[in-house]
Amino acid sequence: MKLDSSISAIVTGGASGLGHATAKAIAETGAKVAIFDLNEELGEKVAAEIGGIFCKVDVLSDESVDAAFEKARSANGQERVLVNCAGTGNSIKTAGVDKKTGEIKYFPSDKFAWVLMVNTVGTFRCITRSAAGMLTLDPVDGERGAIVCTASAAAQDGQMGQAAYSASKAAVVGMTLPIARDLSGSAIRINTIMPGIFATPPMLGVPDNVRSVLEASVPFPKRFGAPAEYASLVLEMVRNGYFNGETVRLDGAIRMPMR
Ligand SMILES: NC(=O)c1ccc[n+]([C@@H]2O[C@H](COP(=O)([O-])OP(=O)(O)OC[C@H]3O[C@@H](n4cnc5c(N)ncnc54)[C@H](O)[C@@H]3O)[C@@H](O)[C@H]2O)c1
Repeated sequence: MKLDSSISAIVTGGASGLGHATAKAIAETGAKVAIFDLNEELGEKVAAEIGGIFCKVDVLSDESVDAAFEKARSANGQERVLVNCAGTGNSIKTAGVDKKTGEIKYFPSDKFAWVLMVNTVGTFRCITRSAAGMLTLDPVDGERGAIVCTASAAAQDGQMGQAAYSASKAAVVGMTLPIARDLSGSAIRINTIMPGIFATPPMLGVPDNVRSVLEASVPFPKRFGAPAEYASLVLEMVRNGYFNGETVRLDGAIRMPMR
C-alpha cells in the first residue's frame, strides 16, 4: 500500500515508545494519523508534534474503542492502516515462597487476566472494528487495508515472572494467521512484529547497570533497538503487498535468558 495524504491511519499506544515512533513515521509519509491511547497528556502532545489527532481510548472497553473509531473517522476518514502498539505487562511468579515472610504465594488470576485483556483482547477488539470499517472501502491497487500488531520476543522466550505477558503476546502471534485467513477475501492484510528490547520509556527506566547487562546480551548490535527501527518495519509491512499472515522477530538476534 502506498502511504500518502490519501491514507488515514490509526496507531494504538501512539502516545509513547514504539507507537509514538510509528505514528511519527506514518505522518512523515503525508498520511493522516490518529493516536489511540489512555494517556491523554502525552497523546495530545504527540498528536500536535506530528500534525495528527488524539483520541482517548482504553482498549479494555468496547464503548471507548467504538467512540474513538468514530472520532478518528470523522476527522480523517475511514482508516486503511491500523497499528496496534498499546500494551502492558506485569512480573509475578506462578507460585513460590516469599523469601522474607516464608509465605506461599501464587499469581492472582485477576492480574493474569488483566494482561491478556489489554494485550490480546484489546488488540483483537481494535482489529475487529478496523477491519469492519475497511470493508466499506473500495480496494486501491487491489487491497483495502493493512494491519500490524505488536507481540514480543517474550511470545517465544518468556522470562521468569512473565507467564501472563508471554501468554498474551503468544496469543497475538497465534491469531495473526487465522485473522489473515479471515480477511483474505476482503483484501486486508495483517502481520505481527516480535520486538526484542527497545529504547522506550519502560526500558529506559531501568538502572544503568541493568541496562548495560541487557545491551551486552544482544548478539549484534549490542544496544537496545531504536523505536525508529521498529517503525521502519511497520512501514515495510504496510507498503509490501505480499507481506501477509507473518510474524517477524526484530531483536538483534537476542534470545531471552531465564531471568
Ligand atoms: N520496548 C520494548 O522493549 C518492547 C519489547 C517487546 C514488546 N514491546 C511491546 O510494544 C508495545 C509498546 O511498548 P513500549 O515499550 O512502546 O511501551 P510504552 O509504555 O512506551 O507505550 C505503550 C502505550 O500503550 C498505552 N496503553 C497501555 N494500556 C492501554 C490501554 N488499556 N488502552 C490504550 N492505551 C494503552 C500506554 O498509555 C502507552 O502510551 C507494547 O505492546 C509492548 O508490550 C515492547
